[in-house]
Amino acid sequence: MQQAISISKLSKVYDSGFTALHEVDLEIRKGEILALLGPNGAGKTTLISIVCGLVNPTSGTVQVQGHDIIREFRAAREKIGLVPQELFVETWETVWDTVSYSRGLFGKKPKPELIEKILKDLSLWDKKDNRILQLSGGMKRRVMIAKALAHEPEILFLDEPTAGVDVELRKDMWQLVRGLRETGVTIILTTHYIEEAEEIADRVGVINKGRIIVVDEKIELMRKLGKKQLTVELNDPLGSLPEALNRYDLDLEDDGRRLVYRYDTGAERTGIGSLLADLNRAGISVKDLNTKQSSLEDIFVTLVEEAR
Ligand SMILES: Nc1ncnc2c1ncn2[C@@H]1O[C@H](COP(=O)(O)OP(=O)(O)O)[C@@H](O)[C@H]1O
Ligand SMILES: [Mg+2]
Repeated sequence: MQQAISISKLSKVYDSGFTALHEVDLEIRKGEILALLGPNGAGKTTLISIVCGLVNPTSGTVQVQGHDIIREFRAAREKIGLVPQELFVETWETVWDTVSYSRGLFGKKPKPELIEKILKDLSLWDKKDNRILQLSGGMKRRVMIAKALAHEPEILFLDEPTAGVDVELRKDMWQLVRGLRETGVTIILTTHYIEEAEEIADRVGVINKGRIIVVDEKIELMRKLGKKQLTVELNDPLGSLPEALNRYDLDLEDDGRRLVYRYDTGAERTGIGSLLADLNRAGISVKDLNTKQSSLEDIFVTLVEEAR
């Protein structure tokens, strides 16, 4: 199957001499929601800007549904809608005109019923005759999304779409993203909010210092890299860990009232059985037990630390 986007050995060295991307390889599947997760400065915006033709790559290639972004720029660009990280819609034009004009830029025939639907989906319909300069920041952001969708792109990039937006817009946005995915649109969003990736993505790519550290199904990533944590509440606080428990990865918390044991969910033996037996043998009395799966956040922190 042809990929929505195929990125091969993509590098970017800015004029300052700074290398923002190091030979990035990434295949983006048609119809998926891919979250690119990475700390500030990781290279997310650089990557998106290259795919959208706003920044020139230093080396490597990008194909958008088979079209090379440099040799076939127009064909590649037309497939893409971009909601950039920064707002730049300062104009005296009305919402309706601005969004309709965006569609025209791609040489598409006017389709007022589509513009109407997009504005309604984004709760912008009652603002359609308002001038953009007079809108609030949140409304301007909605306009940016409407503009990106006006030419019916098959691929939508959202660069940090929820940084600093209100809850209402965030909800509307995820609803819109899910609706678009249902119609076959491929969606790539960048974020440094892990919960966001956890909530909406099919696959997650982790990028750090210009390198993709891992890309995998969200569920696989959590299964493979996830650790579980067993918390043992003790009846009597311990001053220190007894020698007999040295072989376990244990932490003593809450002034000795709680033992925390981390284990690998993928491992053949979790070690829980023997730990409990050893506790019993050491005369440590257990009040309660509970387990918790590590979040994508824990995984992310571990990956970024390992890559340092
Ligand atoms: N025009 C530029 N010139 C020099 N360095 C840049 C430029 N744009 C971005 N960078 C640097 O490249 C790195 C990646 O930036 P960016 O792609 O914006 O990261 P992210 O979107 O993940 O926060 C950062 O260290 C940033 O300072
Ligand atoms: Mg960015």
